[in-house]
This record gives sequence, C-alpha cells and structure tokens, in this order.
Amino acid sequence: MGKAKDKIEEIKSDELIKLERQLASAEEEAIKAKRKYRAEKMRGDELESFVEDFKARRFDMPKQSKKRGPKSRKSYIRVAFGDTHGCSIDPKAWNAFLGDLEYLKPKEVVHLGDVLDCGGWLAAHHTMNYVAQTDYSYADEVTAGNQMFDQLQSVVPQADIHVIEGNHDLRVETTCLTMTQRHRADSELLINAFAPRKVLNLEKRNIHWWSRGECHHDCVQGGTIKLGKCYFTHPQNASKHHAARMAEGFGKNVVYGHTHRRDYFPAANAVGDEWAAWSPGCMCVKRKYWHHTENFKHTQGYHLQIVEPDGSFLGFNVPIIHGESYLSGLYSQ
Ligand SMILES: [Fe+2]
Repeated sequence: MGKAKDKIEEIKSDELIKLERQLASAEEEAIKAKRKYRAEKMRGDELESFVEDFKARRFDMPKQSKKRGPKSRKSYIRVAFGDTHGCSIDPKAWNAFLGDLEYLKPKEVVHLGDVLDCGGWLAAHHTMNYVAQTDYSYADEVTAGNQMFDQLQSVVPQADIHVIEGNHDLRVETTCLTMTQRHRADSELLINAFAPRKVLNLEKRNIHWWSRGECHHDCVQGGTIKLGKCYFTHPQNASKHHAARMAEGFGKNVVYGHTHRRDYFPAANAVGDEWAAWSPGCMCVKRKYWHHTENFKHTQGYHLQIVEPDGSFLGFNVPIIHGESYLSGLYSQ
C-alpha cells in the first residue's frame, strides 16, 4: 500500500508541474499578444496621422464661405435724417417721414445734426446781414425741437435714437463760452440752462447725443459716429459734388447732413473694396434765410438702410418731394 501511495503522489506532482508550465506558457503568449496588439495599434495611429497630414499638405482647402440667404438672426432697418432746424422744420416733409417710419419700424434712427437753428440772440455767430433769423425766439425753437422728438418717439418708441451735433446746434454752446469769457464754472451754468442737448431733454428721453468737439468710436474726426459698417457725421463744408468729396475723404461708407442736398457717390479701389457716401437732403424748408433769392437746389428726404446681422447693409436715399415720400407707394396701395 505504501509504495502505491507514493506512486500516486509522484504522478500528482508531475501533473501539477506540467499544469504550472502550461499556465506560464499561456501567460507568456498573452503578454506577447498584448505587445503585438499595442504595436499594431500604434502603427495604425501613425498611419492615420500620416494620411491626415498628407491630405492637409497636399490640399490646402479653402474655408467655405457662408451662403447669403436665410439667416438665423434677422436683418433690421436703420434710418438717418437731419437738418430739421427747429422752427424751420417742413411740416409736410416731416409728416411724410413719420408715415414711412410707422411702416418701416426702424431699430436705429440717426439725426444727422442741426436739430435747432440757433439763429436768435443766443447765437454768437450770426449769419451776417440776415434779419430773418430773428423771426423766432430760442424758446420757440426749443418748443419746436421738443415737439419733433415727442412725435418721433411716439412713432418709434423701441428705436435706438442717436443725435449728432450740427454746426447750428454748436452755436449756443459757443455763445455760452463767449459770454462767460470761457470761465469754466460759469460756462457750465449757462450750457446746462441753454444748450440744445439740455433743453431738448435728450438724457431724459434716453436719446444718445454725440458731441461735435469729441471723437467717438474709432473715428479721429470729431462728431462722427460708427454704427455697424457705416459712419454718420455732420461735416462743416459743402460743395457742388459733395458726395464724391466725402467718399474720397472718408474712404468708408458715410452718411452725412449739412448740405441740405441729396447726393450719392459710389467709390472703389484697386483691390476691389467698395464704399459710398450718401447725403439724404434736409427735413427743413428748402430755402433757408441765408440764401435770399438764390436757388441752392436744396432737397428733402432721408436715408434708409437694410442692415444685415454682420453689419453690411443696403443703403439708399428716399426722396420726399412736395411732401410725398417716394417710398410711400410700397405700403399705401
Ligand atoms: Fe443744416
């Protein structure tokens, strides 16, 4: 019995050793398989990376520009007008303009300057030898200017309204400075009492006022503002072909007041950039006192822009002739 038992133990021991060897061999195979898999995966990743690099080097793909068409954000209307000149506002032209605004519902409205005329005793720089500018008082002008903004705000209550200071608006502040011999405290006292931006209650009305004596946005020229891809200003001078002069001088899209005469000039340069200058005309009576009997060919109207979400726009002047807007045919049928 003893020998048989020893034999059984010997067989068990041999089997165990054999199994242990098989197990070790299997583990070794598993490790080799893992290493092989990792190596192949790395080669695969490298290959993939190489192909991508090659494609990138070989084909310099241009970025696909977005097609013009339906956009996620809406385009909107911007309107610019100017030269209302207080008591000299033309009621027929003004009413035609308000009628268009009701239809257009602009998001932005820009007054291009000369809100008031400031030709009375508060103007330090009277136009020489003209008595017609004393037909109205400054109080009359203030009333007319406030009525104008009351009507404008009742028609476009949601609009963002900007007012650029014109050379006539500046007359009162210049007078205040001159009368007080530029003493700062006294000047401020008079300016707070009489300056157009104060007496027209622009701050209370939540209307933006842009001073002629300061630079705004990215402009180095005082009294000019930038909305989207267009500038708005009230220049000091006017010539026969003022739009061409403005387009050349600005080198950017610009809408301007002061000239009281409708004009437009498109410009382009050698690298294909395009821009334009627009003067929409005035909103006051066509013949101001400083013209006597001379025909200065003044015209009435406003500027209209359809603005895209990226700031680009379609802009054009809308004439108002004999109190009729040439846009009104769109909505009065
Ligand atoms: Fe003007």
